[in-house]
Amino acid sequence: MSDLPARSEGPAETIRLRPTLESLPAYVAGKPAADDGIRRYKVSSNESHLPPIPAVRDAAIAAMTSSNRYPDAAAQELRAALGEKHGVEPSQIALSTGSVAVTGDLVRALVGEGDEVVFAWRSFEAYPILVGSHGGTPVQVPLTAAGEHDLDAMAAAITDRTRLVLLCTPNNPTGPSLSTEQVEEFLATVPEHVVVGIDEAYREFHDPATVLGTAGLFRRHGNVVLLRTFSKLQGLAGLRIGYAVAHPRLARALGQVTVPFGAAAPAQAAALASLEPEAAQELERRAAWIREERSRVLAALAAQGWELPVSQGNFVYFPLGERSAEFAEFADARGLVLRAYGADGVRATIAEQEANSLLIEIAGEWIAQERRGA
Ligand SMILES: Cc1ncc(COP(=O)(O)O)c(C=O)c1O
Repeated sequence: MSDLPARSEGPAETIRLRPTLESLPAYVAGKPAADDGIRRYKVSSNESHLPPIPAVRDAAIAAMTSSNRYPDAAAQELRAALGEKHGVEPSQIALSTGSVAVTGDLVRALVGEGDEVVFAWRSFEAYPILVGSHGGTPVQVPLTAAGEHDLDAMAAAITDRTRLVLLCTPNNPTGPSLSTEQVEEFLATVPEHVVVGIDEAYREFHDPATVLGTAGLFRRHGNVVLLRTFSKLQGLAGLRIGYAVAHPRLARALGQVTVPFGAAAPAQAAALASLEPEAAQELERRAAWIREERSRVLAALAAQGWELPVSQGNFVYFPLGERSAEFAEFADARGLVLRAYGADGVRATIAEQEANSLLIEIAGEWIAQERRGA
């Protein structure tokens, strides 16, 4: 018999939580596939449908053998490799447990009680949580009808209290991206003491011919910081590793506020292995395949009569407004787990070919049903 006491709620307590927690939205993760016998594809979290490539997986497993030891807190090898990739000093690379954590570090380094952070909405749903939980005030600027950042409105939203602006390109969940000219023009209106974080979690899926010239933007502007992740193309979402490329003072500040030993040894090893030339080539082939599939899906949906935002991510977005939940349920019953966003829209990740074809089929069925009903 167990000598543990029976479970209870514990004693009555009167601890004082920060009042701001009451107004924070909860992070809603992509729904897992229900276990009810229907074969379903989970395309609700913008993950890679493929496991990490073997060399990357092997590097992570090898690092496990010494996981009785703390990881290299300075992540010297990985930061050196990333510094080389981005043409900066290793000290300008700030790592943590995913780029969501690095974005949190950015808020902690820059934002005091009541300071403002401007970002587009709808965008990555962690932004209001990260800002609000650190005492900052989220300033959410509505996207245009095409699901794009409204940079004029964002520039107009900057006040004396603004410490940080987040640009998400390609934007999650709608998909459109920003051009170098657009960002350059925007930066010209932003006071130099306000940091502009460019979140490019989906950069690798962008058409390479028109992808944002982030390296140049970073070199030209002392207030630009880049946010990157290994969670998407590299397939390391479950290992949690992402980073910022920052100018020296900000990079130091990020190092001051981050959780010590955040980047675990297997995550560091896997990230490093994915930067090796052969691995990088394989990953680029994967990205090219996703781009092709995205084009196939978007073309088929357009032929069905859908008018969707132009996505440059590994996902497509249906701006269905009030009918979003209904569409997600319709898809779920037919074997596809999508991500619904309240009364805004529904996002589907581009994944294995069968899942993408099923998306086309389901979207076609929905449209046909709508026409019959009209
Ligand atoms: C725009 C954007 N930024 C950052 C992240 C977080 O990535 P990570 O897994 O590195 O925390 C995501 C994940 O969905 C995202 O969509």
